[in-house]
Amino acid sequence: MIPGVTSMGDSKEFLQRGGSQPRALPFRLLRLLTLFLLLGVGLFAFSIYLTRHFALQGMRIHARSSILACVEARQSMPSLEQWIQPPPTALHGLSDEELLWRASFSPQLEYPFQRTPKIAFMFLTRGPLPLAPLWEKFCQGNEGLYSIYVHTLPSYKANFSIESVFYARQIPSKLSEWGQMSMCDAERRLLANALLDISNEWFVLLSESCIPLHNFSIVYRYLSRSRYSFIGSVDDPGPYGRGRYDQRMLPEVRIEQWRKGSQWFEVNRKLAINIIKDKVYYLKFQKFCKPHCYVDEHYFPTLLTIESPHLLANRSLTWVDWSRGGAHPASFGRSDVTEAFLKRILEGHTCPYNNKNSTICHLFARKFAPSALDPLLRYSLTLLGFG
Ligand SMILES: *[C@@H]1O[C@H](CO)[C@@H](O)[C@H](O)[C@H]1NC(C)=O
Ligand SMILES: *[C@@H]1O[C@H](CO)[C@@H](O)[C@H](O)[C@H]1NC(C)=O
Ligand SMILES: *[C@@H]1O[C@H](CO)[C@@H](O)[C@H](O)[C@H]1NC(C)=O
Ligand SMILES: *[C@@H]1O[C@H](CO)[C@@H](O)[C@H](O)[C@H]1NC(C)=O
Repeated sequence: MIPGVTSMGDSKEFLQRGGSQPRALPFRLLRLLTLFLLLGVGLFAFSIYLTRHFALQGMRIHARSSILACVEARQSMPSLEQWIQPPPTALHGLSDEELLWRASFSPQLEYPFQRTPKIAFMFLTRGPLPLAPLWEKFCQGNEGLYSIYVHTLPSYKANFSIESVFYARQIPSKLSEWGQMSMCDAERRLLANALLDISNEWFVLLSESCIPLHNFSIVYRYLSRSRYSFIGSVDDPGPYGRGRYDQRMLPEVRIEQWRKGSQWFEVNRKLAINIIKDKVYYLKFQKFCKPHCYVDEHYFPTLLTIESPHLLANRSLTWVDWSRGGAHPASFGRSDVTEAFLKRILEGHTCPYNNKNSTICHLFARKFAPSALDPLLRYSLTLLGFG
């Protein structure tokens, strides 16, 4: 509809007004046009402002987010420290096969950083560690120089407080039986877990009945300065030595290579890797060293004597008393642990250390019953040198 054409009233009015103000029309038009022009310019300016404002802000946001992304990327980019950091807990979801594979990684170049080598104390136990308070005292003040690993029965849940050196140090474990291959498996499992920490250099196998005989500084110095690893390894001609050898181990193991030694060893990183990567001798022992062969007394000493005889001290660092006879060494409780008894263990020994004679021959001793804890704590400062 076009106004003024269809309505008579409107057109009349139009004619009337049109006739009375002939010069007002262009003026009003001009005013209207100016208004539109101003509005247009205003809108234009406003839109430019808006565009610039938002574009800049957008750019600023974009720039800020990309800077943040860079910072974040740098933060999450692993530094050397992150690469060499040990796993935060001893737990993991690896199978034995995966674990041994991962643990077999070894650096081929010199460490490009200041590496502080640590001692890995590996506890092979059924469950509780009744002598833990003694070990806590022994470790106190030496953080960064040791790590702890505990292998238990799979069903056992250790319950150490967060302040304890044993807190969260239980590794994924499996059932292991004395004299069986499963015992060697447990020891290899401990070694493999400890190898995951690149700083561990000396690996000590202990039981829940073991105690330290000297303070940490002496133990650290003794292990770190030794040219040899301490594993008992003897060629015993008797029925409990060569008598347990099986001809079917030929040609990998000849009878003159057959060795016997106590289970409680200390090995350096190189030998620890030798042990976990072995398949050849493992299969022979698994197959032919059956009860009553006691594979845990023969496998590691024989393997290491064949592969690295020049790195072995051929003696154990763990004192034990076989003098009472029988299948098991003597065990000591509350009434046994006296000043005279401890002095007898500590004094009066001579043994080769780096091809010289030393009066310190043992760093650890067993077997101590839970009831021995009280007297041990009482004498630890005066006789063992820590407390
Ligand atoms: C764990 O130890 C705490 C104190 O050390 C004790 O209160 C708690 O009952 C223990 N829990 C179990 C399941 O033994
Ligand atoms: C460790 O024991 C030795 C000998 O008993 C002693 O000379 C040394 O001061 C002790 N070290 C510490 C840190 O107690
Ligand atoms: C340990 O015994 C092996 C042979 O079984 C020998 O080659 C090695 O030299 C011995 N180690 C020491 C420190 O005497
Ligand atoms: C070490 O002691 C033994 C006796 O126990 C002795 O025969 C030997 O000569 C000594 N060796 C050194 C290097 O002093």
